[in-house]
Amino acid sequence: MHSFHYSNGSLHCEDISIADLANQYGTPLYVYSSETFRDRYTRLDAAFSSINHEVAYAVKANSNLSVLRLLAKMGSGFDIVSGGELFRVIKAGGDPGKCTFAGVGKTRDEIEYALKQGIYSINVESEEEALFISQVASELNLVAPIAFRVNPNVDAKTHKYISTGKSENKFGIDFEFILDAYERASNLPNLKLKGLQMHIGSQLTSVSPFVEAVEKVAPLAADLKDKYDIEFLSIGGGIGIVYEEALASGSESWWTDQSDETRPLTPEQYSSAIIPSLGPLGLKILLEPGRFIAGNAGVLVTKCLYEKKGTTKTFKIVDSGMHHLIRPALYEGFHEIVPVTEPTGAIDAVDVVGPICESGDFFCQNREVPNFVPGEFIALMSAGAYGMVMATTYNSHPLPAEILVDGNQAKIARKRQTFQDLVEGEEG
Ligand code: LLP
Repeated sequence: MHSFHYSNGSLHCEDISIADLANQYGTPLYVYSSETFRDRYTRLDAAFSSINHEVAYAVKANSNLSVLRLLAKMGSGFDIVSGGELFRVIKAGGDPGKCTFAGVGKTRDEIEYALKQGIYSINVESEEEALFISQVASELNLVAPIAFRVNPNVDAKTHKYISTGKSENKFGIDFEFILDAYERASNLPNLKLKGLQMHIGSQLTSVSPFVEAVEKVAPLAADLKDKYDIEFLSIGGGIGIVYEEALASGSESWWTDQSDETRPLTPEQYSSAIIPSLGPLGLKILLEPGRFIAGNAGVLVTKCLYEKKGTTKTFKIVDSGMHHLIRPALYEGFHEIVPVTEPTGAIDAVDVVGPICESGDFFCQNREVPNFVPGEFIALMSAGAYGMVMATTYNSHPLPAEILVDGNQAKIARKRQTFQDLVEGEEG
């Protein structure tokens, strides 16, 4: 479930009217629901309660300090991919001892910073990187806890830009080479072989690629436990969420009715399919969900500026675009579009486009959406993950503000940028 719904004819986030927020704070505006973040975290955590596990939220999905603080308070660990993300986690009160550090291109500064902060594990993506970490750790007189990321060569059946577990992807070490990598690393100084990691891709809507990957990697993890006494296996993130019919998916009955194949992959389906392979390992199982926790917890609110009727199309021009939510342009991502005032039933086939000087600047093309007119606010649903974190100031548009709602309280999680912010640090 999530916490966006119409109430008295107006879209609400928990108890707060989105139109009120848009009028008060302006648009474009990201609005997040604390309740949805908590619900998603709790539900996934509970689905794995029968085994030793930890949820390490993938910070890249939504790294706002208020969001990280909320999750840190719930006991979440964090999956980070840069020194900057580690800085955010620490600033938000998160524990570096519950952080794993992934990514193919870690710099010396980032490795030093992570080691000095007492990171739980650096997830290493090449043997060259292991050698380098060993050198850095030796110089600092520290022991670097590491895990190799194995590339299981499994097809995640998702968009090619967010598929990571095939051998043609840059991520991890090929399954065929992984035992040798551990063997060589076990002879390097100042390294502790602490675990094994994998992540096959993002927005997976079926459980079968997860099962295939876990079944392939579990025997390897058992072998590594015997040989090197590793303590954890991270199975990465990737659980897909609902983008179509996103608003409808807010009700609990919608989630629990599993008769329809278009329903999302639930945490319970996910856990029950893989726990049989994971449980017997006796390892700590790390989960790295990003989108599952943040995706349906946020919307992007934008205002319709103009309607332009061409010979072949109707364009609804809004005050946000690919610079604030790039998923439609980059991954052909679908975000449900709903007017903030409950629609009357009229539907138009339109392109909803932004102000950016690019033809790729659209939220939808030739899509039937509930009718809305200039001056009205609309919401792009399921924009809580990979939304604001991927926003840019292209065309020198200031970044939107972010609001975190909790019950009947709303707080600014990030102020809207000003023109002055745009030129901060520049000379001229
Ligand atoms: N762990 C690792 C090592 C990852 O690379 C990722 C995502 C995650 C966990 C979290 O995956 P999630 O649970 O969110 O699927 N910008 C794209 C998604 C990129 C995902 C990158 N890695 C999008 O908007 O669809």
